[in-house]
Amino acid sequence: MVCNIDRQDDLNMTVTSQVCCLSWIPLETISSTTPTIRTQSTSSTEPPSTIPIRKPDKSKTWIIFLCVGVVVLVGSLMVFIIWRYRKYRAHQRSQQLSRLMPINLGLPTSSAKQETDAYLIEEKKLRINFESPIGKGFSSFVYRAFMEGGSPLIDMVNSYEVKRFRDCNVAVKIALNLGHDENEMLRREIGMMKNLGYQEQVIGFLGWFMQGDRMGIVFELAEKDLLTHVKDLYERSPGQLNAKETHGILWQVAKGMEYIALNRLIHRDLAARNILLTSGYTAKISDFGLCCMADDTLTYEASSSKRLPMKWLSIEALKERRFSEKSDVWTYGVLMYEVFSGGKLPFATMNTDEMLEFLQEGKRLECPELATQGIYEIMLRCWETAPENRFNFKELAEIWRGIISDETQSYGYLV
Ligand SMILES: Nc1ncnc2c1ncn2[C@@H]1O[C@H](COP(=O)(O)OP(=O)(O)O)[C@@H](O)[C@H]1O
Ligand SMILES: [Mg+2]
Repeated sequence: MVCNIDRQDDLNMTVTSQVCCLSWIPLETISSTTPTIRTQSTSSTEPPSTIPIRKPDKSKTWIIFLCVGVVVLVGSLMVFIIWRYRKYRAHQRSQQLSRLMPINLGLPTSSAKQETDAYLIEEKKLRINFESPIGKGFSSFVYRAFMEGGSPLIDMVNSYEVKRFRDCNVAVKIALNLGHDENEMLRREIGMMKNLGYQEQVIGFLGWFMQGDRMGIVFELAEKDLLTHVKDLYERSPGQLNAKETHGILWQVAKGMEYIALNRLIHRDLAARNILLTSGYTAKISDFGLCCMADDTLTYEASSSKRLPMKWLSIEALKERRFSEKSDVWTYGVLMYEVFSGGKLPFATMNTDEMLEFLQEGKRLECPELATQGIYEIMLRCWETAPENRFNFKELAEIWRGIISDETQSYGYLV
């Protein structure tokens, strides 16, 4: 049987098969004004019969449209919320990771040895001299102490160099205040130090301890920091520089930073005050309180810029809070400025906004008093506006190696 459908709006439809497809029409709704379906008999003797169909209700169509609209809107909103939540969770996870997850740097792979508390030192094993701090930083005091017994590091690193961290003098870093931020910085520092393991150009992390609610970190003891050292030298003999010693220190810092970058860490607080010197002038990078782990794009976007050392920051770090090895390289250039100026504060007369404007105009710190033109050119390359035009730390270490080789005139001597 073939059906012809008559509707007011002249809709014609042919339905092959029985009218069963329209069987949803309730017969009681049939009225004289209702459109009809006229069924046509295949036999010429049968008169065509008519079945009324319901006229579409315009207000109902609108309700359907409205419902669909609301569903689509609510659906999109939910997808957006889920997307934002997942992004937030991923960010949280990477923050946690950067704080706690040890990465394998050739340290013993035994997971038991990499547990978060494996570096915990019993407080009673430390005799801290609280009378006179040996250093004061932005958020902490550093004291001299005597550590009884061995550092947990001895069990962690299978190296002869760390065996000396037993029954020895150490440095202990304790937060200035008991605030959440201070403890958070120490916790972050502990996490980063665990990631780094032991390397000659990084200050040795010997463990951590709790003193009541206060957290403390135990480090190998250094003689002094680089800022104090260059200031002292400048005071004693202004205008003079021990080039061999200075270049050696800068070479070591570049090597240490190369190692840090290789481990996908961004220091963010490289400055002369955070380079420590041993009695034999071995330079060691310290203060990992602002250190962070780079993401897959080798960058890190900070959510806030509080407590960042503004005068040492690159343009992209100041403007977009974007950090990378190359923003550390910029900072290294500022550290060079400190060293070759006898410890001058960079941009001393400018506030952050003025400094950013100055830098965006393409201007840079002037050549410091003790630097040669060649050395100043290294600084300028570290301060290129585009990060990709700056040196990386591997290149900087190579440059210093070359300079020192030339100076000592014994090629192949340095490793
Ligand atoms: N291991 C150490 N040995 C000797 N002095 C240290 C040691 N660690 C830090 N200091 C001194 O303490 C100062 C502050 O330490 P730092 O770790 O930079 O603290 P903050 O995170 O508060 O800036 C340093 O500039 C340095 O003079
Ligand atoms: Mg510091």
